[in-house]
Amino acid sequence: MSVSIKTPEEIAKMRVAGRMAAECLEMIEDYVKPGVSTAELDRIIHKHIVEVQDGIPACLNYRGFPKSICTSVNHVICHGIPSEKKILKDGDIINIDVTVIKDGYFGDTSKMYFVGKRSSHMERLVQVTQECLYKGIELVKPGTRLGDIGHVIQQHAQSNYYSVVREYCGHGIGSEFHEDPQVLHYGKPDTGLELKEGMTFTIEPMINAGKAHTKLKKDGWTVETRDGRPSAQWEHTLAVTATGVEVLTARTEESF
Ligand code: MF3
Ligand code: CO
Ligand code: CO
Repeated sequence: MSVSIKTPEEIAKMRVAGRMAAECLEMIEDYVKPGVSTAELDRIIHKHIVEVQDGIPACLNYRGFPKSICTSVNHVICHGIPSEKKILKDGDIINIDVTVIKDGYFGDTSKMYFVGKRSSHMERLVQVTQECLYKGIELVKPGTRLGDIGHVIQQHAQSNYYSVVREYCGHGIGSEFHEDPQVLHYGKPDTGLELKEGMTFTIEPMINAGKAHTKLKKDGWTVETRDGRPSAQWEHTLAVTATGVEVLTARTEESF
């Protein structure tokens, strides 16, 4: 495993790409309504990245992925493929995952949206998953180990009777989409890689209301819960600073 340390100049470029990805998530909010297809959301974000931001949608053609964003509804854990046939309906939850390339550097972020009215059990799953991400982010600083981050996420999910997806994880990011290290969302304190200033990676916990088991659909991308119960995910791209963390994909509604 070789974990690269980014220069301030590289982090400056990641800040730009990260801000662009975050802005896509802010921009799309008004369109996430009952009756819209996930293909339409993909088209709107694709056009925004290419025509307004002058960026590149990283997912499009990445290892053969056919669309510009991932749209994961209800029991879909991650990597849902936008489709004309998938029409959002009242009560759904959806994760939209956007990765933008600008000037050779990547910004990767996702958030959950409610479609129409929110049920209290969906609201709780979405909120606890966001808290898992935030608790992980709070620990990021030189000297923290990746096992500390995995542990706090696992602890928070399980103490709420939820489970942590094991097969997919966060990742180093920079001039490549997925770099070392792997950032697991479970683990033991005081184990794993020790963070150093200049490391850049994502934290992106996938938390299931039921069991942790996953199933890959025949399309080769869509990952679902085996038990059909809902799943939530939130993701940020982070840089380790001298004293803590910079959230490169922060949205204006967030204060870190
Ligand atoms: N954005 C996802 C991540 O967080 C990766 C999506 S890869 C794709 O790492 F090909 F499905 F788009
Ligand atoms: Co990611
Ligand atoms: Co992502």
